[in-house]
Amino acid sequence: MCGIFGIITNQKNISLGKIVLEGIKRLEYRGYDSCGIVTLSDSKLYVKKDSGRIDEIQKKIDLTEFPNDSKLALAHTRWATHGAPTKNNSHPHLDCSGKIAVVHNGIIDNFIELRKELAQKGHIFKSETDTEIIPHLIEIKMKEGLNFKDSVIEALKLCKGAYGLAICHADHPDSFIVVRKESPLVIGIEEGKTTYCASDIPAFLPLTRKCYIMDDDELAVLKAGEVEFFDINTDKKIEKEIQLIEWNIDAAEKGGYEHFMLKEIYEEPTAMKRTMKISKDLLRIFAKILWSAENIYITAAGTSFYASLAGKFIISRFLGKYIQAIECSELQTQLSNSLKDESVIIAVSQSGETIDTIEAIRWAKSKKNVKVLTITNVVGSSLTRYSDHVIVTQAGPEIGVAATKTYNTQVLTLALIAIEIAKLRKVELDSEIKKYEKALEETPQIIENFLKNNVDSIKGVVNALEKSVNFFFLARGISIATAKEGGLKLKEVACRFIEGYSAAHAKHGPIALVREGFPIIFIAPPDETYQRLIGNVMEFKARGGKIISLVVENDKNITELSDITIRIPQPGDKYYNIFSPITFTPALQLLAYYTSLHHGLDPDKPLNLSKTVTVH
Ligand code: M6R
Repeated sequence: MCGIFGIITNQKNISLGKIVLEGIKRLEYRGYDSCGIVTLSDSKLYVKKDSGRIDEIQKKIDLTEFPNDSKLALAHTRWATHGAPTKNNSHPHLDCSGKIAVVHNGIIDNFIELRKELAQKGHIFKSETDTEIIPHLIEIKMKEGLNFKDSVIEALKLCKGAYGLAICHADHPDSFIVVRKESPLVIGIEEGKTTYCASDIPAFLPLTRKCYIMDDDELAVLKAGEVEFFDINTDKKIEKEIQLIEWNIDAAEKGGYEHFMLKEIYEEPTAMKRTMKISKDLLRIFAKILWSAENIYITAAGTSFYASLAGKFIISRFLGKYIQAIECSELQTQLSNSLKDESVIIAVSQSGETIDTIEAIRWAKSKKNVKVLTITNVVGSSLTRYSDHVIVTQAGPEIGVAATKTYNTQVLTLALIAIEIAKLRKVELDSEIKKYEKALEETPQIIENFLKNNVDSIKGVVNALEKSVNFFFLARGISIATAKEGGLKLKEVACRFIEGYSAAHAKHGPIALVREGFPIIFIAPPDETYQRLIGNVMEFKARGGKIISLVVENDKNITELSDITIRIPQPGDKYYNIFSPITFTPALQLLAYYTSLHHGLDPDKPLNLSKTVTVH
């Protein structure tokens, strides 16, 4: 949540304002309810900030206009946690002297006590945010005679919580300070010229590919074209290695598509082909650990949780053992009395920064000797630090707030592990395993074919359902994961109310809502649940439900019962059906995307959401 961007340079001929605006816009997916910028000139800070999206603010106040001699700027795009999205609550926040400015991504848990103490000492607050205590605490430490860096360190010793911080001081025009604890921060560098900080790499990727990834409890002093790192607990200097970013900025830009969401749906086949190349050795390590484990849990949030539901189904099929899927925010409560040593926890997170997932893993590791296997899309993300083994999915950067290509690459990765398990256990014939492998290898092509030929039919479904605001997404077996994920997408980007549910269980209550024309989307690959699903379709049809079904190419029975069908171009045998969460979900992502457009919404910026949820 929230994006931070900072720059310090010694270059005369660059347009600082433009770089800052473009940098912070590339982080807008992290939060977009207000934005602010601070720059420094002649020992004075210049702040511009307001509520609203960056483009709206830019129309009112020119965020790119800085004093000519400015060489340093910090910027922030906000996802409100403490205090409404107003101008006063926008970052940066300043101390009483107006000399210290702070932008912050994260939450200071004990801010209420600290704020009371500061107020009693006469400090004046202009916002309702937790962040505003930080510049005031630094102000106190500097008045006590500490230098800028030590004041930051001492001030942060008083704060409990999570932060990615960038801090500048009007009397220190040649440097600024950043600190990381549980909220991501990366440093980009053009040696000898310019240094950047950001919550995520795309913010500076058009300017440099060289970067440092900060770890928790690290502080960095950024100067033009140079940076020094310190451990905030020991104040010792840390040597860090520069990393070279291999992907191109095109991967994080729209490249001719109207929205990131659409672009990222169309990137799925390529992202999956890349993910298929994950090292077999690594997959085998995961497979062996799971094979020898007695208790296996899989944990995640949101879309990653639905990918986990699909993945646990596929892995269990080949592993012959039950895997319990637990939402990460519930893991501690559910396992507090039952977690056993040697349990294995698979953690799935696109960002690797979701605080609930990280906390679940940290808790489990603190309680028992568990093994953590992580699947994430972000190299070096926080979650990877608490993991015994990590697989990085190869989706490339995902900017759209709604997860799309990362869902598919997560399920694919879990499926690849499942195939390795099948090979190890040898309970299937080699020829059988080869057929599953071939079906999995064909999934990118199936998706590509679907996306190429079905946009008009999806738009037709959108038109047919334009008056509907409530939906059921129903399925049985493994497809319940698809129903939940497809429903989540429509909820997020099209603001419709959706119940993604078991088709069998729906008659125990939800069916009470069905009236003439109520839309029910059935996910219906012809697997072992198909015959029973026909019965469920009939139950809903008998009550006037409008039946929209997702079926395979040659489907007949459910097609006959449906008002509308969406046909996925794939065979309907067991080798393909087990991977249907991968091949069926893009249709539902497209449905959500075009429904969002139809209702005049912005699918890249759903209301109240943020790409990375770093609050509990
Ligand atoms: O980065 P993560 O995969 O851990 O994120 C988990 C959820 O916050 C995320 O999937 C969320 O549900 C998205 N908005 C889904 O589109």
